[in-house]
Amino acid sequence: MWKCEVVVGAELDVEEVAELYRASTLAERRPVDDRERFAEMLRAANLVVIVRSEGRLIGIARSVTDNVYATYLSDLAVDREFQRQGVGQALIRATQEAAPPAKIILLAAPAAVDYYPKIGFTQHHSAWVL
Ligand SMILES: CC(C)(COP(=O)(O)OP(=O)(O)OC[C@H]1O[C@@H](n2cnc3c(N)ncnc32)[C@H](O)[C@@H]1OP(=O)(O)O)[C@@H](O)C(=O)NCCC(=O)NCCS
Repeated sequence: MWKCEVVVGAELDVEEVAELYRASTLAERRPVDDRERFAEMLRAANLVVIVRSEGRLIGIARSVTDNVYATYLSDLAVDREFQRQGVGQALIRATQEAAPPAKIILLAAPAAVDYYPKIGFTQHHSAWVL
């Protein structure tokens, strides 16, 4: 069985997290091989939720939040072996519960564009990226 826990990103093993990003396919779109930059992404994120199954890291939600208005969910990754078992949804729920008044904002990866509407997100037609 697995459960979500809120952790301090800086305390995670960077290589273990990089391995999870690879196992989920998210590593194709994140700088996991630039160790310094990836370590800083983990260190500076102020809301990190993970899931372990028998000690093995199988899921992560990495966000930046002000706790009261907006939570930017930058990375959501679930190990391929454990996908479609509710882990992703549990990570999002735990992220929301950690900062309940804040709305969650994210950019969907190409592989996940059909996922977010399915779990209750609404598409925003005036989102912009610089
Ligand atoms: C996208 C991702 C985080 C979803 O996590 P997950 O644990 O597999 O998803 P859940 O089990 O919570 O899925 C909940 C529901 O969404 C569906 N779903 C899961 N992944 C989906 C996808 N990529 N597209 C459409 N629906 C999807 C599930 O079948 C499930 O539906 P059901 O309850 O009717 O069976 C995970 O597949 C992943 O890590 N993908 C690769 C990395 C990625 O693209 N991350 C997103 C970055 S924005």
